[in-house]
Amino acid sequence: MVLEVRDLQVEFRMRDGVAKAVNGVTYGVDAGETLAVLGESGSGKSVTAQAVMGILDMPPGRITGGEILFQGRDLLKLKEEERRKVRGAELAMIFQDALSSLNPVLTVGDQLGEMFVVHRGMSRKDARAKAVELMDRVRIPAARERVRQYPHQFSGGMRQRIMIAMALALEPALIIADEPTTALDVTVQAQVMDLLADLQREYNMGLILITHDLGVVADVADRIAVMYAGRIVESAPVHDIYKAPAHPYTKGLLESIPRLDQKGQELYAIKGLPPNLMNIPPGCAFNPRCPMAQDVCRTDEPPLHEVDEDRRSACHFWRECLNG
Ligand SMILES: Nc1ncnc2c1ncn2[C@@H]1O[C@H](COP(=O)(O)OP(=O)(O)OP(=O)(O)O)[C@@H](O)[C@H]1O
Ligand SMILES: [Mg+2]
Repeated sequence: MVLEVRDLQVEFRMRDGVAKAVNGVTYGVDAGETLAVLGESGSGKSVTAQAVMGILDMPPGRITGGEILFQGRDLLKLKEEERRKVRGAELAMIFQDALSSLNPVLTVGDQLGEMFVVHRGMSRKDARAKAVELMDRVRIPAARERVRQYPHQFSGGMRQRIMIAMALALEPALIIADEPTTALDVTVQAQVMDLLADLQREYNMGLILITHDLGVVADVADRIAVMYAGRIVESAPVHDIYKAPAHPYTKGLLESIPRLDQKGQELYAIKGLPPNLMNIPPGCAFNPRCPMAQDVCRTDEPPLHEVDEDRRSACHFWRECLNG
């Protein structure tokens, strides 16, 4: 495993209470594997990723438990300076909004080149050549000329390619992409996603893909982890989940209809709203919305049951769900 997150817990101490954003998340990614992370807004997908990257907003955020093993080392035990070396070089992240992640006053060539100057001690000239090469790799036309341009001179799709190039620059073992195509037009989304999937294979990287787009998941992911109220409720190989979900929440997500009028939004087949993270209901957090809920679901928190060797479900009634 490139990355193994074990029983991670993150909370945010706010004026009106403690929001329990991540409540014992366990997931892992192998080299060359794509793990898609699904779940409604507020389920803790990004906070988990930020904890892995070491870019959590602290305070108010606080990691209260767990381990983040990256290539065997617990990142939570590293000093900030060691952590910084890992971040960027071995572990990279792609965000939804390239315009606010790229530096507006530096040319893309200088930004890409900077990676090689800082981490590899290259000369400016060699770094510039590397920048052009990377822009070629992410299929930006006329890279040699465009390397002198600023982020705002690129289209949204091209900017997202630059972000991918930045993430790839030092050939990291793992990339976390947090809704990398959500802000793009549908046709451009597919191109950028294809590119990312191709490069991931080529470099044999691990990829964690946080997305609302179930179409993308079916095409590129190997495994799915479904989050609800800061927990993994189901994790399994993609084809298993599409064949028959083993958690009623996963089932609800698969039945939800994507909305074309509001990017990144779905019309949920699941009634009701996710819980207030300052006051998560006892038992299974999903019970108030679950069509299958029984008394036990209101009192006992379900463990992550082993459905089979590489499949888990946190539902007391996973068997019934699979067969239903
Ligand atoms: N900087 C912050 N300060 C305070 N609370 C935060 C902060 N970031 C996240 N949270 C809390 O953590 C919860 C989970 O946030 P997170 O960003 O992980 O959701 P998500 O699953 O990525 O949702 P989305 O699909 O909308 O991106 C939020 O609902 C909020 O309560
Ligand atoms: Mg998010």
